[in-house]
Amino acid sequence: MLLPACFGPGHAPEALVAMDSDRALLGAAALIWVAAGDPPAFPVAVHVRPEWRGQGIGRSLVEAAAGFAAAEVPALQPWGLLDEASEEAAFCLATGFIVHHRMLHFEGEAEAMEAMLARYRERFDESGYVPAGARIVSLPEAPAEAVANLVAREFHNSPALMQARFQGRLGRAPDPDRSVVLLLDGVVMGAQLVTLGDDAVPEVEANVVHPSLRRGWANLLLTHEGTRAGVLHGSRRFRFYCDDRVIDTVNLARRSGASRTRVQLALRRPTGAAAVG
Ligand SMILES: CC(C)(COP(=O)(O)OP(=O)(O)OC[C@H]1O[C@@H](n2cnc3c(N)ncnc32)[C@H](O)[C@@H]1OP(=O)(O)O)[C@@H](O)C(=O)NCCC(=O)NCCS
Repeated sequence: MLLPACFGPGHAPEALVAMDSDRALLGAAALIWVAAGDPPAFPVAVHVRPEWRGQGIGRSLVEAAAGFAAAEVPALQPWGLLDEASEEAAFCLATGFIVHHRMLHFEGEAEAMEAMLARYRERFDESGYVPAGARIVSLPEAPAEAVANLVAREFHNSPALMQARFQGRLGRAPDPDRSVVLLLDGVVMGAQLVTLGDDAVPEVEANVVHPSLRRGWANLLLTHEGTRAGVLHGSRRFRFYCDDRVIDTVNLARRSGASRTRVQLALRRPTGAAAVG
């Protein structure tokens, strides 16, 4: 009842409860016993009943969860990303969580971004770095299974669920006109998936390049063609986000004049396990 979102289908969290001497429930923590990320961390959520807040119960639950998990993993992480200015983030930062990285959200002008990428692209094209077998196709023209595998592997998702999204059977399907795939000699090596927001503004939800082609021409080709597809289909603005550790994209956003609309924090808290690195 205190943490309804944590006990949905597909989750079977461990629960820790705080009770008073009459065994009345004051608060609870839910902990998923599956480690993800680097360092590996169990997701944790805490809820204290409003009338019992401000007395250290939330902190005790976090500490108990950390102690409970210490033999298994070096860290805990909140259930999801937290808005930088949120009360949830303030609570976590007060109870031993530290910033692992930030997720920066931007909104920009599609044409300005396209023009800027076109200039960079020209240099790459002239230099002859782009192999003759490289081709960008729209998502429906690409082999769906290979695209689902590439994207799912990168984001630790299931390829089957990814394919269900492509087919419109799960959540919002990527836009077929604005989502593009990079093929190299016919093999899927990159994908930029774009969905349309409620206001019809395109949002880049994933941009993946095969590890063997990173830090070269591939991402530029993919991003340029994806942005161009948006412009050609009449999109004036678009949204995208990136991890603040991906310096190239952060710089690109800055240079294109895109504005930062939101900052989310990815937090981790050491459990105190010997394995903490
Ligand atoms: C957030 C929540 C768990 C805090 O529980 P609590 O028992 O009041 O927390 P504590 O009394 O142990 O406070 C621990 C620290 O967090 C800080 N804190 C607690 N709530 C805060 C808030 N809303 N904003 C900013 N800081 C907060 C406290 O000031 C304290 O820090 P301090 O010791 O340096 O003063 C409770 O308000 C709640 O259940 N909220 C709804 C669910 C939620 O947001 N969960 C957090 C994300 S998983």
